[in-house]
Amino acid sequence: MTQDIQKKIERLRTQIRNCDRLYYVLNQPEISDRRYDELFAELKKIEQQHPELITADSPTQRVSGEPAAGFAAITHPEPMLSIDNTYNADELKAFDQRVAKSLKTDSCEYVVELKIDGLAISLRYEAGLLTSAATRGDGLTGDDVTANIRTIKSIPLRLCGNGIPDVLEVRGEVYMPKKSFAELNELRAEAEQTFFANPRNAAAGSLKLLDARITAERRLAFFAYSTGQVSEPLADTHYETLQKLKNFGLPINPNISRAGKINEVIDICLSWDKRRSELDYQTDGMVVKVNQFRSQQLLGATGRAPRWCISYKFPAEQAQTKLISIDVQVGKSGALTPVANLEPVLLAGTTVKRASLHNFDEVKRLDVRLGDTVIIEKAGEIIPQVIEVIQKNRITSATKPIEPPKKCPACGKAVAKDENGVYIRCTNDCCPAKIKEQITYFAARDQLDIEGLGPAIIDQLVEKKLVMEPADLYKLTKQDLLKLERMGDKSADNLLNAIKKSETKSHARIIAGLGIQHVGIQIAEILAERYGHTAKLMGAKQKELAEIDQIGPVIAKSICDYFEKWRERIKELLTYFNPQTEKIAISHKLTGKTIVVTGSLENLTRNQIEQLIKDNGGKISSSVSKKTDFLLAGENPGSKLEKAEKLGVTVISEKEFVEMINKL
Ligand code: IVH
Repeated sequence: MTQDIQKKIERLRTQIRNCDRLYYVLNQPEISDRRYDELFAELKKIEQQHPELITADSPTQRVSGEPAAGFAAITHPEPMLSIDNTYNADELKAFDQRVAKSLKTDSCEYVVELKIDGLAISLRYEAGLLTSAATRGDGLTGDDVTANIRTIKSIPLRLCGNGIPDVLEVRGEVYMPKKSFAELNELRAEAEQTFFANPRNAAAGSLKLLDARITAERRLAFFAYSTGQVSEPLADTHYETLQKLKNFGLPINPNISRAGKINEVIDICLSWDKRRSELDYQTDGMVVKVNQFRSQQLLGATGRAPRWCISYKFPAEQAQTKLISIDVQVGKSGALTPVANLEPVLLAGTTVKRASLHNFDEVKRLDVRLGDTVIIEKAGEIIPQVIEVIQKNRITSATKPIEPPKKCPACGKAVAKDENGVYIRCTNDCCPAKIKEQITYFAARDQLDIEGLGPAIIDQLVEKKLVMEPADLYKLTKQDLLKLERMGDKSADNLLNAIKKSETKSHARIIAGLGIQHVGIQIAEILAERYGHTAKLMGAKQKELAEIDQIGPVIAKSICDYFEKWRERIKELLTYFNPQTEKIAISHKLTGKTIVVTGSLENLTRNQIEQLIKDNGGKISSSVSKKTDFLLAGENPGSKLEKAEKLGVTVISEKEFVEMINKL
């Protein structure tokens, strides 16, 4: 009886695995979705009745039960190297010449592949079964993301076919198809959650979730592009290896070509640049690989990247539009920045209405004028920039070049250009636009984190001259606040409380909040650690500052110039502060862990969460670095999430954090 059931289970599993392969790997489904669901339901039912017969490679076992507490580290048996980049045909030719010279031959066969814009992953199969999966990490050690990888339907849990080596490490790219990305962002919009900036971030964010059940909903996909450790070589060439991987049931990108001459390689690269928008996944270039493994071995690798492989990066996506007007923004240091207002245009998946013109030297260099047709470009996640003016499209020669402002557009006072620099700055210390920016920066999340002190309130406080410098915030009374528009009794109390709370913030945050040129939160942390107190920093000599690691003469001068000018002002500001010393931890659940909190949280306040981290022995940091263990991301997480994803830092939600604390 059990044998019959066992046979039935195996039959169903084989059938489902075949369907998965036909659907996800070969793109040739042979049965309807409905029939597939029926087979799946049948298998699930029998397994429920006979749980002793469930095996890890059963198609029903893709999703694990409980969220993990964190990711363990996996050391790659063979390092996961990077690839050197080229940006034009000449650089590709130079690569070919280097290869030809090293191999002492002028006939080298290349394989040309799409460079999938996702996340590099190493899958380990032992005796044909998926045993672990790791991110690239620093190339030597990555995160164990096995549970999340198992949820990706195009990745077989068990390989099929003949000749499978005992140990086979498959390297490839996990990506999010453009369609899934669009659907995910739609769902997030409905749930009033923040958007993912692009499919790569979405893929990375989805793989780094501690709860694999959420990863399963994200519809990630995978393409294998090479091998790592293998117990027996699969073939003599890269191309044949890919075919073997395909026969084992692994998804291989269908757009792979072989080329005997570099000119052919170049043609393939250029033609994909034109056609890449037709693909359902994002690519950021092409990868060119020497086909013969023997030649690859002869060429070897530098520490970072192999010499047998090069990428050809596609030029950044561009769009053409019209310049409607130019705004001049006044920054916290008084820098006047021209910003182009544009006719809305679609660029790399988003509608762009504004673009940076950097400074007035750039405006002059571009000779950009109102009404001009301009080309804008977006490289990666960076803000779009105006890169060129199409002069021949200029309708009237009556338009005049845009002159740099002679007066500050906000206060009408004198401006001055930086010595040996490009920025024009407002010289008026009382310029309201400048003060608004300074206060905004002071109160922002990374600095004094004053909740509720947004732009509308700051505008009014400065207009009414209630706040002209940070110290004025601490003198505000309820009566002052009630004079502001749309300020009710409760909001006034909340704001006063938030200001009061900021009085216990650390010296690192106070130093960062001053807005000293070149001193962001990271440098402020170094200074706070070194001097302990802002007052002590004020007494530091320029030479001594310049000798601190990561500070140097430019920052040292900036710090000294700042305090020379504002000594009395800062002395007064410091009288309002009473930074709390770190409390002794109540538990050690988070000892040794550094956590960065970003975005707005749902249930806990910022202070409560920070207290929880401290109480459990964890360390809070305000900036994401390689040393960060977790990024706790709430709503609107902003650039920290991007940075965490780039660095491969584990991202957790508020809920996951609380569960983690309760469970550990
Ligand atoms: S081969 C030693 N092939 O690009 C070379 N990489 O910038 C191993 N990538 O980390 C990589 N598509 O994540 C290779 N067809 C492809 C690729 C590809 C995307 C990624 C990979 C790598 C990164 C390097």
